[in-house]
Amino acid sequence: MRRPLVAGNWKMNGSRASIKLLLDGLKSGVGTVKVAEVAVCAPFIYLPDVQTQLQGTVIAWGGQDLSTEASGAYTGEIAASMLNDFGCKYVIVGHSERRAYHNESDETVARKYAAARAAGLVPILCVGETLDEREQGITEAVVARQLDAVIGLEGAAALADGVLAYEPVWAIGTGKTATPEQAQDVHAFLRARVASHDAAVAEGLRILYGGSMKPGNAAELMAKTDIDGGLIGGAALKAEDFLGICTAANG
Ligand code: PGA
Repeated sequence: MRRPLVAGNWKMNGSRASIKLLLDGLKSGVGTVKVAEVAVCAPFIYLPDVQTQLQGTVIAWGGQDLSTEASGAYTGEIAASMLNDFGCKYVIVGHSERRAYHNESDETVARKYAAARAAGLVPILCVGETLDEREQGITEAVVARQLDAVIGLEGAAALADGVLAYEPVWAIGTGKTATPEQAQDVHAFLRARVASHDAAVAEGLRILYGGSMKPGNAAELMAKTDIDGGLIGGAALKAEDFLGICTAANG
């Protein structure tokens, strides 16, 4: 059985004060979350605060990006070992906003996946098509290409150390959620693709859905066979909404 994971992606939101309030809310309500594993991915500069507040709780934390490199002359970058220093378990790699606004190629994303893995972090690899790509009917080709970059560099067995997140770009922050069937189709495609290399890895791989997941639609999405949790943006910024999604995984 795959344990569902609900991970918040705060993106570039919050302040020390608002994050303290959010985490207080999560800590006091997380007892109702019986099934899912819960994590939050914070802006780098708040990770020390997050660590202080979450240490000893059931809530894990992580970064939203990392460098492809281990250390050295890379001004402004954050290495995997630095995330480890602050107790991170997870790190998001290849979020569509990084791909779009920071020109991250599939190859760069694969190298980030490798850097995270080498340091013992759990990479959350994001894949997903744009609206234009969906309308062209190339959704599967796009997510396959994004997934294959990691399999090509690291081998399919490397996916046993990570989590996959299917995030249709047209559903992110737009209020337009993929239907459970649309999401399930892509999740099943991704799992089958991994299975063509390694059936056991595919069976154990958690594939999260991301894109306007809310308390009101989380249960029906997560009820699908191949949807093993969520990567949550907007709704992760309010304790009540995020906990609502986490408890939806209770079934
Ligand atoms: P959203 O973002 O929940 O606000 O759509 C999801 C994501 O970008 O990870």
